[in-house]
Amino acid sequence: DASDIEKGTYPHFMLKEIDEQPFVMRKIIQEYQDEHDDIKLDEDIRKAMKECDRVYIIAAGTSYHAGLIGKEFLEKIAEVPTEVHVASEFSYNFPLLSEKPLFVFISQSGETADLRSVLVETNKLGHPALTITNVPGSTLSRESNYTMHLHAGPEIAVASTKAYTAQMAVLAILAVDTARAKGLTLDFDPMKELGIVSSAMEALCDQKELFDQIARDYLSTTRNCFFIGRGLDYYVGLEGALKLKEISYIQAEGFAGGELKHGTIALIEDGTPVIALATQEHVNSSIRSNVQEVITRGANDCIISLEGLDREGDAFVIPKVHSLLTPLVSVLPLQLISYYAALHRDCDVDKPRNLAKSVTVE
Ligand code: G6P
Repeated sequence: DASDIEKGTYPHFMLKEIDEQPFVMRKIIQEYQDEHDDIKLDEDIRKAMKECDRVYIIAAGTSYHAGLIGKEFLEKIAEVPTEVHVASEFSYNFPLLSEKPLFVFISQSGETADLRSVLVETNKLGHPALTITNVPGSTLSRESNYTMHLHAGPEIAVASTKAYTAQMAVLAILAVDTARAKGLTLDFDPMKELGIVSSAMEALCDQKELFDQIARDYLSTTRNCFFIGRGLDYYVGLEGALKLKEISYIQAEGFAGGELKHGTIALIEDGTPVIALATQEHVNSSIRSNVQEVITRGANDCIISLEGLDREGDAFVIPKVHSLLTPLVSVLPLQLISYYAALHRDCDVDKPRNLAKSVTVE
């Protein structure tokens, strides 16, 4: 029960939940590892993943953003073709299904009505469904064939933080397990890499003053803000923009770096904050040219990069982690910047206006 969960010394649940992320990573490692250091997973899930010819991820909000990263994991690590769909759109934009689809519902609460109506439909069609949720006894969990638990502990703040990183961690484990079950050769130990992620998250949580300062400098009075990135960084930017909108009411948008010039760059004025992510080696120089383009138009740039890819003038450099797992770490600065921006703007961090933690109506 939410009322039993204490904030302890934290002023807000959101800050507490951001800080819990390193522990959630360790908990996930523990829960998904057996005594032989192999992945511990329901044999039926392994079989369903191995047998399907395509995964359809269905989610909403922050969980949808985790799904976008999940697609990259499933395709790049496990070679499983994957589509990601916004739950509320799925019924009208019903895709042509493959022969052996597997539906994967990602939901922190397990109660989101938009997802449930898709599940009712796919159950009717007889397609198998896996729910990845923080609440194993939830409606989606009960009504689908299989469940994977996030083990993130109760998330109380409306703006999702630790559930998002937990979703990505569990999806990475699922992808590696599937790759192994398919006999693919893989140079990626998910538990070791998630351990490194956990330490990197910890190092980040110790530097809150810096993000407080960034929020103060860039966001205390602005009307809008842009997040740009390429590859995985683009998806993290979408989540960064959502966080900022949800709790600070700043109009924020996430963009693919290369897409800026096709319209959005028209909005860049003197002092417009542009937060850029640069954690992906193969696009490092192109995202940096995008930053130059916006600086030329007067933008206030804030670059968050990865150790080894950093350049002079970057606002923050995140510790080195596996290139596929950078989203799990690079989102923390964005969560913290949003948190402090909301504080500086006197917003109700844990209970933003017009929003509900779980939306049980369509
Ligand atoms: C609501 C919440 C969001 C959340 C979304 C999906 O809109 O405010 O934070 O991402 O629902 O929730 P779920 O529980 O399905 O992950």
